[in-house]
Amino acid sequence: ARFWLVIPAAGIGARMAADRPKQYLQVAGRSILEHTLQRFLDHPALRGVVVSLAADDPYWPVLAVASDPRIRRAAGGRERADSVLAGLEALKSEGAADDDWVLVHDAARPNLALEDLQRLLDSLADDPVGGLLAVPARDTLKRAGADGRVQETVDRSVIWQAYTPQMFRLGALRQALAQALRAQVAITDEASAMEWAGLAPRLVEGRADNLKVTRPEDLQYLQVLWSEPR
Ligand code: C5P
Repeated sequence: ARFWLVIPAAGIGARMAADRPKQYLQVAGRSILEHTLQRFLDHPALRGVVVSLAADDPYWPVLAVASDPRIRRAAGGRERADSVLAGLEALKSEGAADDDWVLVHDAARPNLALEDLQRLLDSLADDPVGGLLAVPARDTLKRAGADGRVQETVDRSVIWQAYTPQMFRLGALRQALAQALRAQVAITDEASAMEWAGLAPRLVEGRADNLKVTRPEDLQYLQVLWSEPR
């Protein structure tokens, strides 16, 4: 299936506590955002990309990839969902249709394997809703009480961690995100907006090393991953 891509990249990366947003930190000679984009730019089914950026972002314009003709910019918003919605609106002016597939992928998730991207596209090509890459919970999970003590152990066999890319039809996703934002429900990924609209996104199992760079030690982990032959 051919697809459009939206990369929300307007976050400030507070938990990384670095001198710049985490998507602009350098690993293996390039910024994290460039590594992230490259995986998709190499895919023959890609139709076009919108990157949602913070206002006055000084880091994007100096990247080599910024001049790629397949990439447009959009103005990011206050929350991730605002940034994604702005990206979807921008895709419409690129000529994208409501029925077209759009993938949304975190700027800070640079280690997506081609096999995972392909499995997502193949698994969902005929799906009525769409879905997301996800990883089954590995650890034993505890629900905590306010006192910091275990209230109960959660049945992990039904728990998955939501990763990206997440893949939905452009029109349906735009509508779900806009409604969820208007209703002020907490939306931390695209699937939760679809769920809120009453739909059930499909879970497509992916690799656990498709990590979102969040804390300083994640950078070291990436460096180790990428020092092995791939
Ligand atoms: O903060 P978190 O790691 O969950 O952010 C996930 C992605 O959403 C990142 O790529 C970040 O840049 C993006 N984001 C955004 N606009 C915001 C907040 C986060 O584009 N207002």
